[in-house]
Amino acid sequence: MNDSTEQLSTTAAPRSGAESSGGEAVGAGIGAGADRSVVSSADGQGGSGEIDLTAGSAASGEAGSAGPVQLADPLTLPCGVTFTNRIAKPAMAEAMGGRQNKPTPRLFTLYRRWSGGGAGMLLTGNVMIDRRALGEPGDVVIEDDTNLTELKQWADAMRANGTVALVQLNHPGRQAMPGTSKQIVAPSAVRAPVKGLRLPTPRALTDAEVKEQIKRFATAAEVCVRAGFDGVQIHGAHGYLVSQFLSPNANTRTDEWGGDAERRRRFLIEIVRAVRAAIGPDKVLSVKLNSADFQRGGFTENESLDVIRALDTEGLDLLEISGGTYGSAAMVGNPSGMKASTRAREAYFMDFAERARAITKTPLMITGGMRSAAAMREALAAGIDVVGIGRPLTVEPELPRRLLTERNAVSALKPVKSGIKMLDGAAELIWHNQQLRRIADGREPDPDIGIHRALLKLLSPKGIKLRRGKRRGAA
Ligand SMILES: Cc1cc2nc3c(=O)[nH]c(=O)nc-3n(C[C@H](O)[C@H](O)[C@H](O)COP(=O)(O)O)c2cc1C
Repeated sequence: MNDSTEQLSTTAAPRSGAESSGGEAVGAGIGAGADRSVVSSADGQGGSGEIDLTAGSAASGEAGSAGPVQLADPLTLPCGVTFTNRIAKPAMAEAMGGRQNKPTPRLFTLYRRWSGGGAGMLLTGNVMIDRRALGEPGDVVIEDDTNLTELKQWADAMRANGTVALVQLNHPGRQAMPGTSKQIVAPSAVRAPVKGLRLPTPRALTDAEVKEQIKRFATAAEVCVRAGFDGVQIHGAHGYLVSQFLSPNANTRTDEWGGDAERRRRFLIEIVRAVRAAIGPDKVLSVKLNSADFQRGGFTENESLDVIRALDTEGLDLLEISGGTYGSAAMVGNPSGMKASTRAREAYFMDFAERARAITKTPLMITGGMRSAAAMREALAAGIDVVGIGRPLTVEPELPRRLLTERNAVSALKPVKSGIKMLDGAAELIWHNQQLRRIADGREPDPDIGIHRALLKLLSPKGIKLRRGKRRGAA
């Protein structure tokens, strides 16, 4: 199925066992998930309409169209679920969970607004799978049916306009905010190296606990689809638990969960298998993966490519590419030691994404830095299937609609800088979170809110807590 000799088809059936969700889709190609093939263009400029068999993904583009893939084209994933276009909102932690870590009406308001904004797919902010291990206060947690009613309301709000709705599932591991987690656990008892911040040394998970965490991902995923979500994404990036298992400097185990690259990735692979078994073949299963940790001794691009190769036979529907950890915030374009050429590109991880495209047929999403329709079209022309737009959507929730209709559309978001470099990372997160809260309260975002107001919040007692936990990174 995965080799390049397969027959090209734009009308093939979705992965066996998966029902098409074609009823939700608009335009051509609906319900016509091509099995391991895609129609794409090599030049992206409206030219050749060349069919690329070597770098194609498992998703189906627009049937019957020979031109380059456009942002407004639908995409049918191997599971049969269709995004109405190629723009997605990636996970952005909202910290709006309520009592018992339930989704709250503020989340419903926020996501209903985003659902009307035009994106083909929305991801929730990271939702925790173990209430003993929170990334920050206000995380939503799914351990069982406790929050099912509210989860249903959240799914309804997200899907209000035919938008595909996914939940990002996460365990923070050693990047848990101090004070919010009863126990801080990780693959090994190795502290996260974050300059200027002393995070606690975690306790190494036992073998039985590793297996328990795999089950927790599967249980949470099953609850999500029962609540009406279209599927889930496993957070395998940004230095959290899954990413810690992948990383040689966080995972120094010598049992079956560490010791070499294959055993380090086993935790992720087992989670993927358990989650797929729990949600069935017709729901979306996605992974967010680091291109690299951007840290000395960390997960490298070559190891990441090996993970992508290994995932290729696991029936993933979408692989989102990002990068970085708290210690090196590449995900928001602020890594320590990122090459100048990489930083100069609007899409931070495009070079890596092109390498990934060459070796996998899994549909790819790229997130980080993209602001203009032109750069997004370039990504599609390079064979990327979906573009993720995060921070701009906190101030321009309807930006996707503009990107879909105006050829030269560009986000108006300006970089959020305080002038105090050390505080910039956390201040930026708080600034964006303030914008989310305005939308969640039914108000308009206010891009003119000064960064100094965010800094004042940062220095308030609650903010100090946040700064301790998150000074340098994004979730
Ligand atoms: C406030 C905020 C919260 C975030 N929370 C998450 C999260 O929960 N999970 C995740 O994978 N990424 C998270 N991210 C990273 C984004 O998904 C995305 O990778 C990053 O913002 C880069 O994309 P952008 O340049 O389009 O904003 C967060 C980013 C911000 C700004």
